[in-house]
Amino acid sequence: MANALVTGSNGLIGSACVRKLASEGWQVVGLDNNMRQEFFGPLGSTLAERAHLVETVPGYRHVELDIRNRQAVRDLLAELRPDFIIHTAAQPSHDRAAAIPYDDFDVNAVGTFNLLVAARDYCRDSPFCFTSTNKVYGDAPNFLPLRELETRYDYGDGRDGIDESMSIDQCLHSLFGASKAAADLACQEFGRYFQMPVGIFRGGCLTGPQHAAVELHGYLAYIVYCAVTGRPYTVIGYKGKQVRDQIHCDDVAELFLEYYRKPRPGEVYNLGGGRANSISVLETISALKEMGHTLEWTYRADNRIGDHICYISDLSKLKAHYPDWRLRHSIANILEEMLKRHRDVSPASA
Ligand SMILES: NC(=O)c1ccc[n+]([C@@H]2O[C@H](COP(=O)([O-])OP(=O)(O)OC[C@H]3O[C@@H](n4cnc5c(N)ncnc54)[C@H](O)[C@@H]3O)[C@@H](O)[C@H]2O)c1
Repeated sequence: MANALVTGSNGLIGSACVRKLASEGWQVVGLDNNMRQEFFGPLGSTLAERAHLVETVPGYRHVELDIRNRQAVRDLLAELRPDFIIHTAAQPSHDRAAAIPYDDFDVNAVGTFNLLVAARDYCRDSPFCFTSTNKVYGDAPNFLPLRELETRYDYGDGRDGIDESMSIDQCLHSLFGASKAAADLACQEFGRYFQMPVGIFRGGCLTGPQHAAVELHGYLAYIVYCAVTGRPYTVIGYKGKQVRDQIHCDDVAELFLEYYRKPRPGEVYNLGGGRANSISVLETISALKEMGHTLEWTYRADNRIGDHICYISDLSKLKAHYPDWRLRHSIANILEEMLKRHRDVSPASA
């Protein structure tokens, strides 16, 4: 039986990957130390997801390990020699990084490097998927010509979205964007220099009902949580017209399996929901209202430093390299799933 290692296995993308792989007959080891709680407080805890995986996924083995612990990472890879690695463990917040710069860099850049070197030494032919971010492009997308519409911004030059040719250089990234860019480049290098099958996936907004969403990370799940529970929400900057493309975590997991089947060393892909799954904050609020949930919100005019005004992934390269892969989840579908999750967990509030 093929075996896989998923880092950040209790988080949004990691847990979706664990389930997908196990459903296809893989033996899965998940690595996570619940550091999300340390980053974001109790609402960020991923322990419930961990318990759920242990209870419901046959053969799932959990390893409580910090990817900053180089020797422990090496020992684990030497023991497992996994056939496939999906690396999702991270400090994932653009805004949080400034307050915890050492943790951010140590987890995102050094933790990734620890995994890459150990993978080179113990399982160099095994495909390795790295969840990078569109924040490696810094604020460069904000300098594209933009037009303002009634409920959103859009590109003024008619482009469908942003492709991989955008420069990651000489722009404002946030410390998070910089630590992820360091990891992104290291992954590319292990692909190119060592010819290892490492794929780099620059995520837009990755989302799903099991996200332990907090104000600083997990936009869509957090706004749904506020709408359902009556918690006040603050729209920050750009008149609420900022746009993100949303992709369901299960669609990400399916893509990673496609990469496993046909890996391309060091290749970089933009990964998101694309134009069809793009939505602004104002449009999200309207959609939730139509679904019976009116959000209590206020507006703060000063935008987050380096926040994207309009980010939609151009999926052309991904679709050309992986023609069998499809986006199966629409925005409406994702919102419905999130609301259902709230109904199941706390019927009174939803
Ligand atoms: N969710 C998004 O919108 C988004 C967008 C772009 C990129 N990404 C990237 O995708 C990946 C997964 O994101 P997510 O939303 O699933 O995040 P998540 O926070 O839900 O999951 C990450 C998991 O990693 C664990 N973790 C953190 N530090 C660790 C450490 N030192 N050792 C072991 N485990 C650790 C956390 O406890 C958490 O369970 C991240 O690399 C993130 O940067 C996410």
